[in-house]
Amino acid sequence: MKSIKSLPALKGAKVLVRVDYNVPIVNNKIRDVRRITSSFETIDTILKKGGTPILIAHLGDGSATLRPVATFLSKTYNIVFITHDVNDSHIHSIIEQVPKGTIILLENIRHYEGEEKNDAKFAKALSKLGEYFVNDAFSVSHRKHASVVGIAKYLPSFAGAQMQKEITALSSVLNNKKHPFVFILGGAKFETKIPLLKRFAALADNVVITGAIMNSFYKEAGFAVGKSVVEDGFSKQITTLLKNPVVLLPADCLVIRDEKSIAVTPDEIQSHDVIVDIGPQSVKLISDKIAKAKLVVWNGPTGWYEKGYVKATTALAKAAIASKAQTIIGGGDTGAVIEKVLKYEDAKHLFVSTGGGATLEYLANGTLPGITVLK
Ligand code: 3PG
Repeated sequence: MKSIKSLPALKGAKVLVRVDYNVPIVNNKIRDVRRITSSFETIDTILKKGGTPILIAHLGDGSATLRPVATFLSKTYNIVFITHDVNDSHIHSIIEQVPKGTIILLENIRHYEGEEKNDAKFAKALSKLGEYFVNDAFSVSHRKHASVVGIAKYLPSFAGAQMQKEITALSSVLNNKKHPFVFILGGAKFETKIPLLKRFAALADNVVITGAIMNSFYKEAGFAVGKSVVEDGFSKQITTLLKNPVVLLPADCLVIRDEKSIAVTPDEIQSHDVIVDIGPQSVKLISDKIAKAKLVVWNGPTGWYEKGYVKATTALAKAAIASKAQTIIGGGDTGAVIEKVLKYEDAKHLFVSTGGGATLEYLANGTLPGITVLK
């Protein structure tokens, strides 16, 4: 895999860069800019070599606009935000007119049908906008999409600086799995995470289920989950996992009952309760496991992050910081909590990945489709 450092002198050449700007935006305000700032090293390298970066990114599905991201980038760079259709030949002359030293951001790439289908025609049209391709979006590299995988077939392709940092940190875990290995899974995005649990159950000494995923495990284990968020369709996998002794379900959880939050055991959950986090007993138990672990991989908050239930996640973050276990944290929300309580001088044992599902898939499979095509 060629590093971005080996890009030749660019002399005005256009470099298509896949970045991950899939960031939380509320009322036009970006709530977590880490994924954006982590692309700056790659952007700066291309500018220094005399090239023009053309940034390709997605935001949620195809409907949202990347304009708030363009506004954020404009604080650091001269930027042109191009909303013009990439299939339209006019876009080439627009790009040619962009002055040297300026960066270009294209509108939400998932706006195009061909992107998620990894359509060859679309990938080719995209590739025509530049002379080189750089993938700096480790966190999207588990997706076989046109701007991640397809495009690499048509252009000399390189790994960006953030991509390389992720691979270096995560491959050190892959090559030397220490035990006890505690794997903590939270958040939602079942579709990406559930299939990987089987792999982690075979690798780790403990697999701790938290977050919205926990609700479906409780349900499958025969507990009432009241009005909690559950996702159906994974019954078979969950039943198999529940039989595995390494899989641990939290002994208590926090529910909202009559507008108050109370800690209950799963057999005490009532029909109007909504599960919003794990309970204090579970926090203590998981913290003890973290304290004794040599390796911790943690992905996704334990509670309903968007509604502000971050107490247990924060407590576990502190336990991870205090422990000496090599710790990999994945998932945007978990990373945001960690960054709030982290003092950098204490954090040598800790790597906060920009990836969520991608980090898990990399650790389970040793590579990702978007990395394989760079080799
Ligand atoms: C992420 O947020 O994990 C990446 O940006 C990938 O997003 P996706 O799950 O919508 O493909």
